[in-house]
Amino acid sequence: MPGWNQRLTKSLHQSKSQPESRYFQLATLTDDLVPANRTVVFRYLEEASYSLVVVSDTRSAKWQELALQPNASVCWYFSKTREQYRFVVKGEGFTVDSDPALIHKQWSKLSDAGRKQYFWGQPANPRASDAPLRVTSDMSEAPEHFCVLKLKIQSVDYLSLQGNPQYREKHWLDGNGDWVSQPIIP
Ligand SMILES: Cc1cc2nc3c(=O)[nH]c(=O)nc-3n(C[C@H](O)[C@H](O)[C@H](O)COP(=O)(O)O)c2cc1C
Repeated sequence: MPGWNQRLTKSLHQSKSQPESRYFQLATLTDDLVPANRTVVFRYLEEASYSLVVVSDTRSAKWQELALQPNASVCWYFSKTREQYRFVVKGEGFTVDSDPALIHKQWSKLSDAGRKQYFWGQPANPRASDAPLRVTSDMSEAPEHFCVLKLKIQSVDYLSLQGNPQYREKHWLDGNGDWVSQPIIP
């Protein structure tokens, strides 16, 4: 297991009582080259491909942006352990057409409140002020716009603020596809 994976597993374990430790920021690039950043929920790490997995909506900007430019960045801070991970990632999107088993599994893990968000209507469209967002649809099956994003990790910049001096290290893949790491000046 690469060193960053061991660290991340430990950070998640040490922060498991803190729900906010499962949120990270995902930055993509718009078609006019403006970085677009937002918070998403970490679902799991797919260790076979070293991908951070999140669920989302194909009608959202991030889906369109990753389709045009798969290179993206993740920034994740664990406040309890005072550690920051910055991942350069390559995003790939999955829908019920491309991976029905994955979609069904992730949909089945969502609470009713989580599922409802997918039936409020087209994200980012204008909304009459205070208009209620009632959901009467059958929520047992994922709608076709429900998607899974796999963010395949390309490199890691880790920073720990514990201790003085701070500790920072880079992790990247060498020419043979093996992970290598190097402590660097913070
Ligand atoms: C704590 C928190 C968790 C969120 N988790 C997700 C998520 O897992 N997936 C998602 O698509 N949006 C999530 N959102 C909403 C996004 O931050 C964003 O507002 C929305 O997806 C639209 O983004 P886009 O238009 O840039 O694609 C979350 C927001 C917050 C504040």
